[in-house]
Amino acid sequence: MKWDSFIQKLGWLPPRLLAFAEKRLKTLPAVSQQIEKEYDEMMVALESSVKPYKGRFPSFTQIPDIGRDRIEILHEMEAMRTHEEAHWKDGFVSGAVYHGDEEHIDFLNQVYALNSQSNPLHADVWPSATKFEAEIVAMTADMLGGSDQEIHGTVSSGGTESILLAMKAYRDRAREQKGITKPEMILPITAHAAFDKASQYFNIKPVHIPFDANYRADVEAAKRAITSNTIVIVGSAPSFPHGAIDPIEELSELARQYGIGFHTDACLGGFVLPWAGGLGYAVPPFDFRLPGVTSISADTHKYGYAAKGTSVILYRGRELLHYQYYTTSEWPGGLYFSPTFAGSRPGALSAACWAALTSIGAQGYTTATKKILETAEVIKNGIRQIPELHLLGDPLFVIPFASDSLDIYKVLEEMTRRKWSLNGLHKPSCVHLCVTLRHTQPGIAERFLQDLRAAVAHVKAHPEEKGTMAPIYGMAATIPLRGMVSEMLKRYLDLIFKT
Ligand SMILES: Cc1ncc(COP(=O)(O)O)c(C=O)c1O
Repeated sequence: MKWDSFIQKLGWLPPRLLAFAEKRLKTLPAVSQQIEKEYDEMMVALESSVKPYKGRFPSFTQIPDIGRDRIEILHEMEAMRTHEEAHWKDGFVSGAVYHGDEEHIDFLNQVYALNSQSNPLHADVWPSATKFEAEIVAMTADMLGGSDQEIHGTVSSGGTESILLAMKAYRDRAREQKGITKPEMILPITAHAAFDKASQYFNIKPVHIPFDANYRADVEAAKRAITSNTIVIVGSAPSFPHGAIDPIEELSELARQYGIGFHTDACLGGFVLPWAGGLGYAVPPFDFRLPGVTSISADTHKYGYAAKGTSVILYRGRELLHYQYYTTSEWPGGLYFSPTFAGSRPGALSAACWAALTSIGAQGYTTATKKILETAEVIKNGIRQIPELHLLGDPLFVIPFASDSLDIYKVLEEMTRRKWSLNGLHKPSCVHLCVTLRHTQPGIAERFLQDLRAAVAHVKAHPEEKGTMAPIYGMAATIPLRGMVSEMLKRYLDLIFKT
């Protein structure tokens, strides 16, 4: 029996037995050698794409004795930027760069340069940074239905940090106020991985609930999952994988009835949905207008069009926020307090974020949202006309598609050959394009559809081709030994940090 078919055959084992079998299997020298061999082969296949600059630019494993020429360094960086920029600038990438217009970038870079030394940790030295952050929070709260309510929050370094902070705050509040020592959070399985990360970091048991036919969280399942240890229910607006907006109204009301917190993850949609609603799109309520919503994460570094490295975490009232803060009065280093996980923070990024919000303005965001949603419509209609493909659910601007007749990962690989960087997803196997302003440039949506039709035609005409990445995606999606997949991802991270 071939190795991979043997592993696939283990799939019928119940999860606990499977985990046990996996542990035991790895202790067998022949098996662990075979696994190592497979990891090494995979990493060799990936290395050239992860390390394209090897041999082309000077590289360092020690700080050079004598400092290098600044001009030379700038030249090298410019060469790398040129190599990388065309890819995202010309709209080949899903998500990642959400604005990317030259003038906007130049402006943010100027703002960064003016503030590059700023650190909000030293509020006395850089009161400008704290002014920018307080106003970023206020503007975001106002946009998310908080104008006439007590909504407070902080700026963080990104969506993941906002989510981690909120989950920690819920955990600490529940421990102190309700004596909950075995906290649980109810998560749609489509909630971002950052929630699972929070569960690992903070020892909160994740209780997953499934999605319905439209890829939206199942409310009845959420109700059934509530226990006396539940500290928070989570919903996405929209979710990363399928761009579906969970039934936030029902879920948050459920949480309110049970006296549980409710977090809306609007990292992706926080700066799109409010404007989409204003444009007349059918946007279900998801923000602080719903009384059960007790916290929201919204990413300024996505559709807020700020530079990478900022997000906003908001709470109803100050109670949860105070569970987020860190303070110590006993440290010999003096009184110390910080609002988020980091100590020192890049004030320049908050300045750039404030500059993005105030220079774009409500009108600018509305125009940008209109362009994105209209482009998404063109792309969705185009996909609907490809008989081998179908859309998953009824997405707004994150467009997931799958196939019943073709290996969607082979289609993904063919798209990659045509320069596209799309997201490969699993459970179910599908691919998505997260539409940004880059895709609203003339001709990009048409080029995407043309390439997609060609990719589908190619896969259909060449069933014998196995591809390079497609089998890896396929294996990662279906292999029953999930520990092996985790190990493979760790090897990939090792590869990234290899000089
Ligand atoms: C819905 C959602 N939540 C959270 C995150 C995490 O954001 P970040 O990558 O900024 O940490 C993402 C990222 O794409 C997201 O789509």
